[in-house]
Amino acid sequence: MLKVVDLNVAYGSIAAVRGVSFDIAQGEIVAVIGPNGAGKSSLLLAIAGLIKPRSGAIEFAGKNIASKQAEILVSEGVSLVPEGRHIFGSLTVAENLALGATVRRDWPQIASDTERVLAMFPVLKERYRQRANKLSGGEQQMLAIGRAMLARPRLLLLDEPSLGLAPLVVNQVYQAILDLRQSGVTVLVVEQNVSRALAAADRTHVLSFGAIAMSGKSTELAGTAAFDAAYFGVSREAGRA
Ligand SMILES: Nc1ncnc2c1ncn2[C@@H]1O[C@H](COP(=O)(O)OP(=O)(O)OP(=O)(O)O)[C@@H](O)[C@H]1O
Ligand SMILES: [Mg+2]
Repeated sequence: MLKVVDLNVAYGSIAAVRGVSFDIAQGEIVAVIGPNGAGKSSLLLAIAGLIKPRSGAIEFAGKNIASKQAEILVSEGVSLVPEGRHIFGSLTVAENLALGATVRRDWPQIASDTERVLAMFPVLKERYRQRANKLSGGEQQMLAIGRAMLARPRLLLLDEPSLGLAPLVVNQVYQAILDLRQSGVTVLVVEQNVSRALAAADRTHVLSFGAIAMSGKSTELAGTAAFDAAYFGVSREAGRA
């Protein structure tokens, strides 16, 4: 479904993503974990077409998408739930959800997909006509995921979906991610929340200073000394940097 080959992203002279390669099979959940500044968001922004990579290839469903614009990619099935959610506070829940479907013309399907999002997150149904800035952080995260779902993604990119949320709300958000995979959506999630990422993802990559430091099946990485050394090692180094 997604193949990233030797991807490099830079902001001027700052290299944010350095030679990253990995792939994701259809229906898989893959996590990229790493500390602040590791390059997680830059990686997702490049895949979503929101920043142009310096070099490298990004293939989605067999086609090179490395130079395509974000709007086109959304209509082809790549949706990003950005870090910090970026919902429109002065618009209602209903209006924010509708924005997710602006690339579509299949009205009956949009209505049934909206029902599906509201069934997945009942709190959004209760608050359907309220302004989004009245929602809690967890409700805003659900709204951001619901909005992305309304674009009918085949590949969903999630940037730190658990950030700032209480553990019970994180459970709900991750349950929704597992439900989406069940319905055939492929998921790439970046996280600083290591235990959540390992619990949800089939495979996990550890990103350190823009490069992949370790990769493996989540069940095989969890709790191993090598993983702790890779992840906590890079965290400590980042803390010092
Ligand atoms: N717009 C920008 N201009 C210049 N440098 C940037 C920009 N965005 C990110 N960077 C730098 O690129 C590197 C990677 O940042 P990025 O935001 O991708 O990391 P991250 O892993 O998502 O971090 P966080 O966990 O804090 O969200 C960092 O050194 C950061 O300072
Ligand atoms: Mg980030």
